Parts: sequence; C-alpha cells; structure tokens
Amino acid sequence: MTATVIDGKAIAAALVAGIAKTVERLVLTQRLTPGLAVVLIGDNPASTVYVRNKVKQCELAGLRSQLHHLPADVREDDVINLVRGLNGRDDVHGILVQLPLPPQVRAAAVIETIDPAKDVDGFHVVNVGRLFGGLPGALVPCTPQGCLHLIFSVRRDLSGLAAVVIGRSSIVGKPMAQLLLDENCTVTIAHSRSADLPAICRGADLLIAAVGRPQMVRQDWIKPGAIVIDVGINRVADGRGGSRLVGDVDFAAALTVASAITPVPGGVGPMTVALLLRNTLIAACRQRGIDEPEV
Ligand code: GUN
Repeated sequence: MTATVIDGKAIAAALVAGIAKTVERLVLTQRLTPGLAVVLIGDNPASTVYVRNKVKQCELAGLRSQLHHLPADVREDDVINLVRGLNGRDDVHGILVQLPLPPQVRAAAVIETIDPAKDVDGFHVVNVGRLFGGLPGALVPCTPQGCLHLIFSVRRDLSGLAAVVIGRSSIVGKPMAQLLLDENCTVTIAHSRSADLPAICRGADLLIAAVGRPQMVRQDWIKPGAIVIDVGINRVADGRGGSRLVGDVDFAAALTVASAITPVPGGVGPMTVALLLRNTLIAACRQRGIDEPEV
C-alpha cells in the first residue's frame, strides 16, 4: 500500500482563501476588520519564525495584525499589563502570546489574564472548560482543530474508530483527544511513559503523533490502513553539516503501511495558522454580535 499524502499546505490555503472572502465581506457590510495581537517575548528562533508567519498570513487574509515584541528579560507584570491593555481595545479581537515564555514569566498567569472571548489559542481555563465540558462557545486550540480538518479530508465519519493520541500536552494531545471523542472515536491518550507504546499504536485506526521525538513512530507501530497525523516538527542534522525538519513519524516507512499520512513540513503546520485566522474571525464576529460565518 502507498498512503495518500495529505497536502496540508493546499488544504490550509483553501481554508485561508475562504477566510479572506469572509473577511472582505465583513469589512464591506459590517465595517469589521478582525484584528489579532501577537505577543512575542525574546528571540527564540522557532517562535520568531512561527510568529512572523502568523502575522504574514493575517495580512494575506485581510485581517489586521499587530506584533508586540518584548525583550527576553521583560517583567511578568509588564506582560500582564500589556495583555490587559489589549483586552480593552476594540480593534483587537484575538490575543496570542507565543509560548514558551522565559522563566520569570509564568504562562498560567499570562493566559489567565487574556479575555476568554479574545483567547484565540483556546488556552484560557474558560475555553478549556467549555471544550471539555461539552459547552457551547469554546474557542478551540488551533493545532488539534487543524488535525481534525486534515482527517476529514480523507474520511468524514470517524464514528467507532480506535484513535490513539501520543502526547498529553494541553496545546495538542488533550484537546485532540476531546475533539476525537466528540466524533465518537474510542480514544487512548498515550505518552512517553506508556508501557508498550508500539502495541498501543498498532491498535489505532487513527494515529496522532504529538510527542516531539524525531521519527519515533516506526513502520511496525502502524496498523495497515491507518490514518496517521504527524504533529511533530523536529530539527535534526542532515548529515551534510546542515539541518532538516522531520516529524514524530518515520514518514518514508509509514507510507508503505498507512492509508493516509501528513508530511512534515507541509502537513499540520500550515493548518495551525489557518485555524488561528479562523478563530480570530469567529472571535471578532462574536464580539460584534454577528452570526458566525460558515468557513
Ligand atoms: N507554541 C507552540 N505552539 C503554540 C501555539 O499553538 N500557540 C502559542 N501561543 N504558542 C505556541
């Protein structure tokens, strides 16, 4: 079997094009330009690349964006005061504080300060509670939403499937498991300490790898015909003095067993940004009391 390679770049581009159309209509008919404020602290190279891309994609889709770049030694109070100021601005509908943060700034304290209506990452306890409580109105974390979208591109009905999520982070693993549960999957959350991880993975019709370990998932961990979603973005040496990005799955080997698989790069990564734009659009409409658009 040669797996279908799920083209996250193309699927994200289609989603962003739909968002851009909706934004154009909102600007014309409602005089509403959704606005995203991104807070970047320090100069972590990966974070800098991600944030630059988020701001660029906003501009391409017609959203307004503003980048607040703070020094690595900024005081926690100053970050909190910045977020409070953004909460109060009518032209800012979404606030994203790029993680990780330097040690003197507690992520929990900063996230707690974000107005839940503007929490486009879906990290605030109010949004987490809505998602896990099955309550309406949650802003849902972007990466797991993006993964679900990619799964739907190859299979719409997930009911009854055995899903295994490797990774238990609050950003990906846990919300991913909840979204799959909502689709009537039987969900297992596995992690680096799970006993016999390969055996757990072999039972998965749907395997989502989000552990951050380069090419950890081997060919014989994958059930023939499984759908494999690779959330990992790991930089490894390329053997020629440079580096390259690989996922958490041994992609070349998995291609021969899975029915569908996402590549790295060009799989989940572009979807995270597209769903961030969508969350910002949704947040803007809710704040204005406008019906949520179908995008
Ligand atoms: N760092 C890595 N992924 C994310 C994300 O989805 N949101 C934020 N704010 N920081 C991140």
